[in-house]
Amino acid sequence: MKDLNILLGVTGGIAAYKSAELCRLFVKAGARVQVVMSQAATEFITPLTFQTLSGRPVHVSMFGRVESGVEHIDLANSAELMVVAPATADYLARAATGRASDLISSVTLAFAKTVLAAPSMNTNMWNNPATVANLATLASRHGWHFVEPGAGELACGTSGAGRMAEPSEIFAAASALARRDMEGLRLLVTAGPTVEDIDPVRFISNRSTGKMGYAVARAAARRGAHVELVSGPVNLPHPAAVECISVRSALELEAEVRARASSCDAIVMTAAVADFRPAAIAPHKLKKAPGEDERTIALVRNPDILAGLGALYGEAKRPLLVGFAVETQDLLEAAKAKLAAKKAHLLVANLASDGFGGDTNRAQIIDRGGNARDTGKVSKDALADLICDSILEKLLG
Ligand code: CTP
Repeated sequence: MKDLNILLGVTGGIAAYKSAELCRLFVKAGARVQVVMSQAATEFITPLTFQTLSGRPVHVSMFGRVESGVEHIDLANSAELMVVAPATADYLARAATGRASDLISSVTLAFAKTVLAAPSMNTNMWNNPATVANLATLASRHGWHFVEPGAGELACGTSGAGRMAEPSEIFAAASALARRDMEGLRLLVTAGPTVEDIDPVRFISNRSTGKMGYAVARAAARRGAHVELVSGPVNLPHPAAVECISVRSALELEAEVRARASSCDAIVMTAAVADFRPAAIAPHKLKKAPGEDERTIALVRNPDILAGLGALYGEAKRPLLVGFAVETQDLLEAAKAKLAAKKAHLLVANLASDGFGGDTNRAQIIDRGGNARDTGKVSKDALADLICDSILEKLLG
């Protein structure tokens, strides 16, 4: 936390008073805190409280006094971490839809680094599918982190989930996000499916979303690593501070990985590489012939990229090779066999029923010694951090 620049966003809920304590904890830990409040938040606690605690003027209005530059952009560029506590249902809805209707939402929209939000609202608002969808969007599309509200007595007189997490919990989550323990390391991450063309309009691919690989890239970059992300076609935004390389086929992916491998400390192969590709790509759209009831497409084997890296670097300590395996049965045995066959250093294995396509996963992180770490069911972002922890352990151990 020392010398970390934190933007502390405070939106209009009764829990705003607790954020004064959060601000104090950040300042005490040596962080530089810049507070941005929504107009509604000032109804619950005065800017003067935060100004006194942070030692800096508090920003509230879009058209306040500005020394120079453009206020919301300067604010967004001024910090490495944004913590929004409390985050109201309305604020989260605006953030999820990219609204910029006041200063705090404009700063949020312009902020390209790590965001941690501590929602606070009535139980029905928290459980409302609209709020659930907004949080899912912010987590999966924008990589936001959340300190989930606890259950208890709420200001509205009811009892249930929705009460903002305690300042100490939010502080701990922010500290974990502020870690820079991967500084100096170079990571190569592959993600998404590969697409194997049949003709100019048809292809063979798979349902990989790329979420896991993008989460690993984000986590490692946030923790200070230099990250190159080689990705097949996915529907995800490029993570901030990550060098992104787009590929389509397994052969393209292999070429990009091979060109970069030797300068990396670790290679994380989350990509779902197609095992086969059409033997030839037809230059023109294939036509069906009258009466043609069956069509056979000849496929040839794609290189096993991870096994190829294993043959080159499997005996060395670096680059550390991390493979992934999705299985439908006999998870541990299949994963251990795969790790050995491909000469990977680590293998992250999960059952298809636990994680494919979704935002959570449960995996076993297996090493060559046969040790398996069960991650339990966690968000893909949390799993990404656990994978980074295992990589660090192996590289430094
Ligand atoms: N992999 C690779 N090149 C391939 C296939 C897979 O580098 N041609 C990598 C993936 O990125 C992943 C791991 O190997 O890290 C997955 O291995 P594997 O289970 O062999 O992939 P599957 O296609 O799922 O294998 P199988 O169908 O035999 O279970």
